[in-house]
Amino acid sequence: MKDQSETHQLVLLPGDGIGPEVIKAAETVMRTAREYLHREGIELSWEAKPIGGAAIEEAGKPLPEETLSAAQAAKAVLLGAVGGPQWDRLAPHERPEAGLLGLRRALSVYANLRPAALLPGLEGQSPLRPSAIQGLDVLLVRELTGGVYFGEPRGRSGESPSRSAIDTMAYEEGEIRRVAHVAFRSAQRRQGRVTSVDKRNVLETSRLWREVVEDVAKEYPDVTVEHQLVDSMAMLLVLKPHMFDVVLTENMFGDILSDELGGVVGSLGVMASASLGDDGPGLYEPVHGSAPDIAGKDMANPLGAILSLAMLAEHSLDLPLLARSIEGAVKEVLRQGLRTKDISDGSQGEKVIGTREMGERVADALAQNLHSRQALNATYF
Ligand code: IPM
Ligand code: MN
Repeated sequence: MKDQSETHQLVLLPGDGIGPEVIKAAETVMRTAREYLHREGIELSWEAKPIGGAAIEEAGKPLPEETLSAAQAAKAVLLGAVGGPQWDRLAPHERPEAGLLGLRRALSVYANLRPAALLPGLEGQSPLRPSAIQGLDVLLVRELTGGVYFGEPRGRSGESPSRSAIDTMAYEEGEIRRVAHVAFRSAQRRQGRVTSVDKRNVLETSRLWREVVEDVAKEYPDVTVEHQLVDSMAMLLVLKPHMFDVVLTENMFGDILSDELGGVVGSLGVMASASLGDDGPGLYEPVHGSAPDIAGKDMANPLGAILSLAMLAEHSLDLPLLARSIEGAVKEVLRQGLRTKDISDGSQGEKVIGTREMGERVADALAQNLHSRQALNATYF
């Protein structure tokens, strides 16, 4: 048993589009967790703050100081999604996305973990044939605070018809090294294989990337490393995704390949993520975007947000048993045949339910789970 009087303060950033709905569903699950944790002397509390488009409307900017300082003071941050067509005309630094990028940077969460595995019962959702996805269990480790997302110079100049634009992809050795360590340490706890993805036949940053990854690999003799070019990797992830364990890559390649993995598992709606730095709060967010077309319709899949909450319990609260219990509750609800619209056509006895009800059913299953378990703050189980 751990210290009996811990308080975990969390910050919720619902954001835009379906963000508020999926975060509300996660909150339903959090209330159940809070009740059980409280019995063991662990207090969970949280407050919501605006980010992205919601913050632009409320406070005139996508990352208000109050949101940032609350996030910095929290144990962990759970974010929904940002962005929407109504803010598309704003200048780059005023856009909702600038709020999220600014937050990632301010929290120094340079390692973005995006696990992709098939949830039991959802195998049929993958467009790939069974032999390609059997045993699929990939952890994508995406560098999150460098590369072309942040490089300078960037901007536009000139007038039509001779306008020009520039972005800069830049990496320092240290930025590559620290995220590579995260990938290798993750591999040690998994199948012991790292696939590093770059474009070293063309890009200088990729040549440095590969050299530094090779260097870091020497410190992990128990982990095997291989390299793939990003174009070829994009193909391999649909041909034989089950061949990969940990996939390590830079910011933009990781953005693209993680959506591809969402397609491979059948829906981005179930994909969770954790963004971690060396210290300070972790940032947890579902991989799906704000999906403005289905926002406000109680149709969005909250499982990505709920599974992000499980990652939060594991990485920021050091409560692996709670994490496993939340994952178990998600599996149980799927076993019962309950589905949101993105992961079912309503056939084969499945029942299509809304975002809110999905949150409630997972919370019920979690309560069941916790009721029949040992103490949540046990350090092992
Ligand atoms: C993601 C998103 C973000 C990104 C956007 C919203 C800025 O696509 O988390 O994958 O590109 O990182
Ligand atoms: Mn993305």
